[in-house]
Amino acid sequence: MSDSTIPDSAAPEHTGGPAVLLEHVAKRFGDHAAIDDVTLAIPRGRITALLGPSGSGKSTLLRLITGLSRPDAGSVRVLGEELSTLPRGGLLKLRRRMGMLFQDNALFQSLTVVDNVAFPLVRVARVPTAEAKRRALALLEQVGLPGLGERRPDELSGGQRKRVALARALALEPEVVLFDEPTSGLDPQTSAAIDALLRETQRRLGTTFVVITHDIISAAAIADHVGLLVDGKLRAFGSKDEVWSSTDPQVRAFLDRRLPAG
Ligand SMILES: Nc1ncnc2c1ncn2[C@@H]1O[C@H](COP(=O)(O)OP(=O)(O)OP(=O)(O)O)[C@@H](O)[C@H]1O
Ligand SMILES: [Mg+2]
Repeated sequence: MSDSTIPDSAAPEHTGGPAVLLEHVAKRFGDHAAIDDVTLAIPRGRITALLGPSGSGKSTLLRLITGLSRPDAGSVRVLGEELSTLPRGGLLKLRRRMGMLFQDNALFQSLTVVDNVAFPLVRVARVPTAEAKRRALALLEQVGLPGLGERRPDELSGGQRKRVALARALALEPEVVLFDEPTSGLDPQTSAAIDALLRETQRRLGTTFVVITHDIISAAAIADHVGLLVDGKLRAFGSKDEVWSSTDPQVRAFLDRRLPAG
C-alpha cells in the first residue's frame, strides 16, 4: 500500500503530516494476532477515538504508539519519527512530546494533588519548585479543580482524579495526548463531564488527542475521527460521520448494539 491510500483529511497540509502513522503493523502474542496488518493515519490537532470490543487490541495498539512495545512487523511513526530506528535517548525525547492518561490515572498517592501535577515539571523539565507549583495550580484551575491542590488523590472522587491526571498529562505541553479508557468506571454524568472537558481542552490547546475507548456514547460526544478495531484488524477509519454511516456488517454490528436510537 502506498501513501496515496491515506485519506487527505488525515494530513492537513500545514501541519507536517499525521501525528501518528501506522503502516502494516502486526503484533502477536504466541499464535494470537493481537494487531493484524493495521494501517492508519491519525490527524494532528483533532480528537481521534479508537473503538473496539474488549480484547480487540486497543491497549496493545496504544503501547505500540508509545514505544512501550515493539511491533513484529510494519512501521510506527509518531510526530514524523520512525520508532524502530530511534535510539533509546531519541525515544525518551519523543515520549516527552506525548502525554499519557492511564486507565487507573497512575497518580502518586503519597503526593498532594498539586505536587502530582508539578512532578513532571520538576523532574523532567527541571522547572524550579515554586514556579512548577504555580504552573500546576494554573493547570488545576483549567481542568476545573481550583482549591483542591493540597488534597491527596484518595481524598478526591473518580472524576476529580481523572481531572488531576489530565492536568499532569498536559503539564509538559505535549503535542499528542493518549488516553486509555478515560471514562471507564465513571457514572454517566461524570463521564459526560469528562467528555466535555476533553473536548473543551482539545479545542483550546489544538493538541492531538487519541482516545482509546469501548464507549460509543463517549466517542460520539468527543471524536472528530474514529477507528474501529475488531479482532486486531482495523474495520473502519475515517471521520466520525463516515464511520457512523458505514454499511460494513461488522461495523454496524458494533455500533448498532451501542448507539442509542435516533
Ligand atoms: N502481554 C500479553 N501477553 C499475551 N497476550 C496479550 C498480552 N497483551 C494483550 N494480549 C492479548 O491480546 C489481545 C488484545 O488485548 P488488548 O489488551 O490490546 O485488548 P483491548 O482492546 O485493550 O481490551 P479491553 O477493552 O478489555 O481493555 C487479547 O486477546 C489479549 O489477551
Ligand atoms: Mg485495554
